[in-house]
Amino acid sequence: MKRREFLKSAVTTGAGLIILPGGLRGATAASNKLNIALIGAGGRGHAHFASIADENVVALCDVWERNMAEAVKRFPKAKTYSDWRKCLEQKDINAVVICTTDFTHAFVANWALNRGMHVYLEKPLGITVEEARVVRANWLPKRGKLATQVGMQRHAHDNFNRIAEMLRDGAVGELQAAYAWGNRQIPKPGYLPAGETPPSDLRYDLWLGPVKADHPYHPEYFSGKPGANCLQWNMYWDFGIGQIGDMGSHTMDIVWNAVDCHLPTSAESKGEPFNPDVTPVKAEMRFEHPANDWHGPISITWYQGGAMPNPPSEYVDINKIGHGAMFKGSEGILVADFTSRALIPLGKDGSLTYYKPRKKEELLPSVGHFQKQWINACKNPSLKTACDFAYSADMIEQMCLGLAAYRVGRKISYDGAAGHVTDCADADALLKREYRAGWTLNG
Ligand SMILES: NC(=O)c1ccc[n+]([C@@H]2O[C@H](COP(=O)([O-])OP(=O)(O)OC[C@H]3O[C@@H](n4cnc5c(N)ncnc54)[C@H](O)[C@@H]3O)[C@@H](O)[C@H]2O)c1
Repeated sequence: MKRREFLKSAVTTGAGLIILPGGLRGATAASNKLNIALIGAGGRGHAHFASIADENVVALCDVWERNMAEAVKRFPKAKTYSDWRKCLEQKDINAVVICTTDFTHAFVANWALNRGMHVYLEKPLGITVEEARVVRANWLPKRGKLATQVGMQRHAHDNFNRIAEMLRDGAVGELQAAYAWGNRQIPKPGYLPAGETPPSDLRYDLWLGPVKADHPYHPEYFSGKPGANCLQWNMYWDFGIGQIGDMGSHTMDIVWNAVDCHLPTSAESKGEPFNPDVTPVKAEMRFEHPANDWHGPISITWYQGGAMPNPPSEYVDINKIGHGAMFKGSEGILVADFTSRALIPLGKDGSLTYYKPRKKEELLPSVGHFQKQWINACKNPSLKTACDFAYSADMIEQMCLGLAAYRVGRKISYDGAAGHVTDCADADALLKREYRAGWTLNG
């Protein structure tokens, strides 16, 4: 009964957030348009053209001039920049969409927040525990004034809410463990050698930006398909966090949305031998979380690059799910991918009589168009976004802690309030990284 009452009130609150057909009053009026800067205007930036086209796109920024060409054609009135720090000085900007490299995400997001701008940030939110914490700390006092969203757009599939409802309604009994996995494998031997000069219209110095080491230019870092070029650099330690930041951001989101957890109390990890240049292809990371108001203590485990959890039963082949999630409880197991789910009752009480699916009118409301959800929230601060900088920072902080555990090769204890590993100084030192002189994370 208690659970039902909670759900009803959650739905009522949620219903207040639905935007009625016709949109917000005056949302498309000239006076109510956002002044947007698109930073990282090529590649993934193109996926945002349609959702920002109804606003004023007043600035475009890209380190590579040729990558900006299509954006310039689409938004000819926008001023153009190669350095995002200069771009953010433009006074009329009130919202930014950031599609740059992962190792610059937390920088640009912090600088934009500090200048009073709403932020849509492509995933991952950051690549270290420290970056996640600084972005979150920066945004929390501005919550309700500045709208934020991390580009985990698969979250808009209704399946995410259906899974969350099922777990809260007791579909697996008492929740005990959650698992997420991804099978993408991009092995690389190490950083690429020197040999070629950068194209004349690429500001390679700005591309490297805050990276401390002088990695030489190599065309292979830039040889991917537009919108998927991130797969050319995100596995190198200085440029990204491999699959935990890539598909991990999307797939762990299925779990994160459902389990209602914040920061873990411990992390342990195993995987292939450590390579100082490249993040692991095959690895698994397990986190312990304290009880919350609707479930007891649980573990969350991430598997990548061929590592997989045990199947829920011998006749279910979860290897057929390339990127998926699973939830184990006292009565059953829920297996899911981004758009579908299957409930497998366990043991003697496999009758499912313990579980009463909720009524249609009690379902959580749809997210709707994911990018537009952010645009609407920029215009109406009372609206929430699904993947704001608190939700998304917690999730990626956990994943980055897992990488620190992987590197030290032992279980570590974590004090989430202080942001410190309490029993391993080496792991604690891995929660942040050094930057090139002149680049400030929170400027
Ligand atoms: N949400 C999703 O499903 C999704 C899909 C693809 C990519 N992404 C994310 O989008 C981001 C970009 O990925 P991509 O494949 O387009 O990569 P990319 O290497 O093509 O970079 C995107 C654009 O940003 C520019 N750029 C790079 N660094 C910059 C900087 N410091 N300042 C200004 N411009 C800069 C590049 O020249 C390019 O035009 C990554 O963080 C990736 O994780 C998200």
